Amino acid sequence: MGTKMNFDILTLFPEMVENGLNTSIIGRAKEQGIISIKAHNIRDYTKDKHKKADDYPYGGGAGMLMQAQPVYDCFLSVKESIEKEGKKLPRVIYVTPQGKTFTQSIAEEFAKEENLVFLCGHYEGIDERVLEEIVTDYVSIGDYVLTGGELPAMVMIDAVSRLVDGVLNNEESAQTESFHNCLLEYPQYSRPEEWRGKKVPDVLLSGNHKKIKEWRLEQSEQRTKERRPDLYIKYKKLKKCEKYLLNNKLHHMDMIELLRRGNAEILYFEKDGVLLKDKNSGAYMLTVTDRENGERIISYIKEQPEVFISHQEFMNDFISQKFGMNNETECVQWVYTRKETLPINKDLKIQKLDKEHADEVIAHYYTLCDETYVNERIKNGVMYGIFEEDTLAGFIGMHNEGSIGMLEIFEEYRNRGYGKALEAFYINLHLKQGFTPYGQVISDNNISLKLQESLYLYPAKEKIYWLVKK
Ligand code: ADE
Repeated sequence: MGTKMNFDILTLFPEMVENGLNTSIIGRAKEQGIISIKAHNIRDYTKDKHKKADDYPYGGGAGMLMQAQPVYDCFLSVKESIEKEGKKLPRVIYVTPQGKTFTQSIAEEFAKEENLVFLCGHYEGIDERVLEEIVTDYVSIGDYVLTGGELPAMVMIDAVSRLVDGVLNNEESAQTESFHNCLLEYPQYSRPEEWRGKKVPDVLLSGNHKKIKEWRLEQSEQRTKERRPDLYIKYKKLKKCEKYLLNNKLHHMDMIELLRRGNAEILYFEKDGVLLKDKNSGAYMLTVTDRENGERIISYIKEQPEVFISHQEFMNDFISQKFGMNNETECVQWVYTRKETLPINKDLKIQKLDKEHADEVIAHYYTLCDETYVNERIKNGVMYGIFEEDTLAGFIGMHNEGSIGMLEIFEEYRNRGYGKALEAFYINLHLKQGFTPYGQVISDNNISLKLQESLYLYPAKEKIYWLVKK
């Protein structure tokens, strides 16, 4: 299981939040200790003898304002207990209609944190000076005004919690994600087969899974087009871009999977090339027809990327120079194109790794990545280990941008088929999640190249190049 997620809410109405987040899935997750939700009463921190936490605004105007001091002291108390546990300064989210609008991708970003602090306003708001002092994110739940920040905080906590590893059970998380690929969910039906003269669509009773899948996609598309034309435009662009990249499927699988898994920001897409940014890692991926167009496309990047994955060698020196990258690694991309899962010996013990294994993994993993990266991969629940009795013998993981990698078998456990078993396990896992499994191997790593072949992965003819600052 991943790390526990802790929410602290600074509010004048703690009972509202506590009662609202005590039932159903969130209540269960709290009981299981996967998340913690603590509401702190701002009023407990006022120095006013009448317990007052608000006052009139300077300059006049309607209503009362929450004062800076009680909010600040309440925050300091929360901050102190987080620091006592040796954790980093938390993000502090002020829920306000004046913030950016909360979306699924913000929920995903928040879910990566270990601690989140929510500040709920009331009346006409909060004294600006304390906001300047403590707030890191201003977030709204939509363009309408509520009486206080408690409901918005609860909305966000619910959306973030369900992304935390272990909060949803298998059945619950098997539900496909609504917004991931810019499509709304298809309609669903349960018993009885006929209700008030309305019949369940025949195709759903047919048992033909291929047909059912096609029907559901059609319904999703139609529904999105009617109800969310804005999303539908994005969806069409995604599909067109995917089709373009499929012209060389093996070479572009990293870019295709980034799009399919809902992690790509399309920065450029025309017939001369595609430029994507990975929303998770911030890495850029580029494929182009020629150098001149490539240089023009790259000028769309307005920041200094840390990682650039170039799909044409002729672009490498230009990219490296422009962004000050001094390390280039040539890789072969491998893709598992089959639909069937691979057989794995059931007696082998393969398990998700957690924090306790971090040091051992770091001690054995030298290639390209640092300690912070390994810790973050483990925290994200994407690293698995193979065990002999209770001793770790090797591990594998998913990289930030989605490829299978980080495979390492400890020296004394080699030549027992453990590497192959771990990779087969990860391939099966990705197939189950509806992904196309792929990986990238440094061009001269012959042992790994052989392993890929033995697992029925196909290599792309054209190489890809990882350009990084070292
Ligand atoms: N407080 C009042 N209205 C709000 C909204 N729409 N989003 C976040 N916080 C709020």
